[in-house]
Amino acid sequence: MKYAFLLMLIMSFSAYAEDKSVWDGVYTQTQAEAGKAGYERSCISCHADKEGEVAGHGPAPAIIGEEFMYRWTDTSVADLLDVIRQTMPEAAPNSLSGEEYAAITAYVLLLNGFPAGNRVIDPMEREELMMTYIEEAPAL
Ligand code: HEC
Repeated sequence: MKYAFLLMLIMSFSAYAEDKSVWDGVYTQTQAEAGKAGYERSCISCHADKEGEVAGHGPAPAIIGEEFMYRWTDTSVADLLDVIRQTMPEAAPNSLSGEEYAAITAYVLLLNGFPAGNRVIDPMEREELMMTYIEEAPAL
């Protein structure tokens, strides 16, 4: 009896820990605003900041809207942050600080319509970011 209760408690904790998505408010408005400045400095020459727009002259993919969801659904914020840090900006990967990459990632989430909230994308909180999934809007 006692063990059954403990088991339930443990299971509900782990369910809670896994149950995060970009719809839960995983970045703050302030963080995204810091990221906007970084995005305009380092990204906008190749990636637009409006859905359906193409920036620059190169073959940079759109990272807003349908294209974004096609590529990133069921991956995590950690995956997105890693790809941005390890491959972007194209000519100088890994050239910004961890904080700047986190802020730019927050801004990319904002551009994609995911809500701001109370949490901050903290590159040191790897596990949390790995458990925060990029998903379609939850059904109401
Ligand atoms: C010089 C042009 C250029 C700049 C500047 C640039 N990118 Fe890219 N980006 C590309 C190209 C080209 C690709 C596709 C090839 C690749 O994935 O390496 C790409 C791919 C990506 C992808 C993956 C695409 C996908 O399928 O979702 C993301 C995310 C991304 N860029 C974000 C950024 C961010 C954030 C910045 C600013 C820190 C940035 N890029 C700066 C050219 C650029």
